[in-house]
Amino acid sequence: MEKELPDVTIKIILLGEANVGKSSIMNQMVHKNFDLMYTTTIGVDFFIKNLIYDNLHYKLQIWDTAGQEKFANLINNYYRTASCAIVVFDITNYNSFKKVDKCIEAFNCHTDSERPIILVGNKIDLHRIREVSLEEARDKADKYNSVYLECSAKRDNNIQNIFTCKL
Ligand code: GTP
Ligand code: MG
Repeated sequence: MEKELPDVTIKIILLGEANVGKSSIMNQMVHKNFDLMYTTTIGVDFFIKNLIYDNLHYKLQIWDTAGQEKFANLINNYYRTASCAIVVFDITNYNSFKKVDKCIEAFNCHTDSERPIILVGNKIDLHRIREVSLEEARDKADKYNSVYLECSAKRDNNIQNIFTCKL
């Protein structure tokens, strides 16, 4: 008889400026799909992804939040639910990198205990027009004791690693 794998549930919240590619990362991870057309998220979307990794059965519960400022109050209600955060910026847009501090501080101020944060620079397929250097991004991750990863939701480059990286 096959031995049943134990379940581990991880609650993840995706944060970051509008248009950085949060939904695209989620869509690539959950549905193996990418859409070049931009459909902004309204409020918060919820997805589940099951995966087997290192002989464990993981159930990822993912909250994909809207980056538009007008939804900030609504998103406040979701910070507490998450056990970790993936904070995304667009490597070709320096303004989106500037928003990272605000996202992390908002996430951190909702609990006393330190929860893992992964900082993600998306759109590396557009590295020729990058505005945020690797060094600056790594420094930012160090500041928050977090891991820094770069990816392309478009090319499905490094997406799975974001969700399975050791923290
Ligand atoms: P909000 O829901 O408004 O907060 O935005 P979002 O962060 O969810 O961004 P979304 O995933 O909707 O992507 C925004 C735009 O960037 C879309 O046109 C995507 O096709 C595009 N995009 C996302 N990821 C990539 C990528 O890796 N490379 C390139 N070239 N474009 C991308
Ligand atoms: Mg979105």
